[in-house]
Amino acid sequence: MSNMQIIPMTGKAFGATVNDVDLKDLSDNDFAILHDAFLNHGFLLFPEQHFAEVESVAFGERFGELEFGGLPMANQQKHRDGTFGEIYDLQSQMMRTNVGNETWHTDSTYKPISSKVAMLSAVVIPDEGGQTELADLRAGYDALDQQTKELISGLSAFHSTNYSQANDIGDFPDTNGEGAYGTVYHGEAYLRPLVKIHPETGRPNLFVGRHAFGIPGLSRAESRALIRSLLEHVVGDDSRVYTNNWAVGDTLLWDNRRILHRARPYDYEKPRYLIGTRVAGDPASELAYYPEDPEAEAGRKALTEELEHLRSETTDRRYGATTATF
Ligand SMILES: [Fe+2]
Repeated sequence: MSNMQIIPMTGKAFGATVNDVDLKDLSDNDFAILHDAFLNHGFLLFPEQHFAEVESVAFGERFGELEFGGLPMANQQKHRDGTFGEIYDLQSQMMRTNVGNETWHTDSTYKPISSKVAMLSAVVIPDEGGQTELADLRAGYDALDQQTKELISGLSAFHSTNYSQANDIGDFPDTNGEGAYGTVYHGEAYLRPLVKIHPETGRPNLFVGRHAFGIPGLSRAESRALIRSLLEHVVGDDSRVYTNNWAVGDTLLWDNRRILHRARPYDYEKPRYLIGTRVAGDPASELAYYPEDPEAEAGRKALTEELEHLRSETTDRRYGATTATF
């Protein structure tokens, strides 16, 4: 008999802490209970798990096929012997990407298939800052007025991390599709509805974050204003935002189909090392289209036009409309 305790977050519309459970040794019955809690609460915090990479992979695989498993979400390398390498330069594409992810987003919406689940496990954390924040797109949708619900019903936005890097921090990564970032900065943009019907709960939620731009049928100014206002609405109420102050050993798991997240800044000279595992979405509900499909052409065109605007508009941002030096 399991002693597992699932305790909803106080004062929040979403989220729960799960105590008295060992995720490394979890029965199928307890996993079924956790999976229901995950769908119900949107995110789960598991203190004192102290996952290694293989354990992160193993737990992630219980949710489905992985996009990747047990990878460093870090500002430093981890060597095979377990020691850590030098802190990355803030000009590197790795750090530019990390800094970009300090703006609200859901994972992998810039890929053909967006993500189902994200999981992070804390190994090394800075004394200050570096939190992960989550926001509930479902409670955000529920709180919209009827007029806005009608306005956005049927609208979609393109999603691209070439766009979000440029728009948020003035970073224009190479889009040659090669190297470690070939699946991230690829010059494609994927069209996704502003309102997502959750494939497992049937509940509607907003589906916008930093990667979203270019709503077809709206002017550029209208599209930017609408996406910004929806995001501000979601994170504008404390009950819809949760800040995870990491403790070493924590594992945090959230539903990428419903939950926004962002990293918080910290002193980038200090080490921060989290293990990341990402579960792929189901093609039936998370596939937009593939680059070779005819509809991909509209996304490429919209992105090219948008980046032309942003070239001149983002010289004031952190990276000043430059390309990473790698
Ligand atoms: Fe992320």
